[in-house]
Amino acid sequence: MTETTNAFTTAPLRVVAIAGSLRRGSWNRRLLETARELAPAGLHVDIVDLADVPLYDGDRDTDETRPAAVRWLKQCIADADGVLISTPEFNHSVPGVLQNAIDWVSRPAMKSPLAGKPVAIMGASPGALGAARAQQQLKLVLMSTLAQVLPHPGISVGMVAEKFDASGKLVHEPTRQFLTAFLTELETWIRHVGRPAVAERGVRAA
Ligand code: FNR
Repeated sequence: MTETTNAFTTAPLRVVAIAGSLRRGSWNRRLLETARELAPAGLHVDIVDLADVPLYDGDRDTDETRPAAVRWLKQCIADADGVLISTPEFNHSVPGVLQNAIDWVSRPAMKSPLAGKPVAIMGASPGALGAARAQQQLKLVLMSTLAQVLPHPGISVGMVAEKFDASGKLVHEPTRQFLTAFLTELETWIRHVGRPAVAERGVRAA
């Protein structure tokens, strides 16, 4: 084990959390807020908003023209030790808002801030399947970015409206326990994957 790896494995871990929804009352955002609440002591969860990220435009994806919100998002991910995504399901797939953000962050191909980055995904929906199909699609998208997706059957929170109370608190105890265990697995995964592989690729948040 190298010195770099030792330093990494003892430091507190920063996780950027992204909801694939801009809706004020988003269930997926609430799930991330719950993750922030239930995270183990070694994991610091910061939720970022995609509201200011414009539609991908190759003409604006240069060092001179890149929108500030995109530069900010890429930097957040580059600086983080891991990423946690909670995706809704739109027409059995990943909502455009989330796909668009990933498209921006995924450049330059193979050397983006997502390359080598440990990522965990989950999802919520008012229907029975808890965005399970969208999560499958999201795994494929993330694989193309070389992100290191946590091997896990996934957190699919179906019938989500019945699991939160009116104040937005997740009150369904089995889901709370499942999410708590998932976050511990994410911490273990981040420490397992580590940072050196990313650093060696020379990843920069351009
Ligand atoms: C949906 N919704 C939905 N739900 C689902 O389980 N499978 C689906 O394929 C779709 N498709 C879909 C398409 C579009 C365009 C919309 C607007 C909605 C419902 C969706 O799960 C629900 O609106 C969630 O509440 C969205 O997530 P947030 O915003 O609550 O996080």
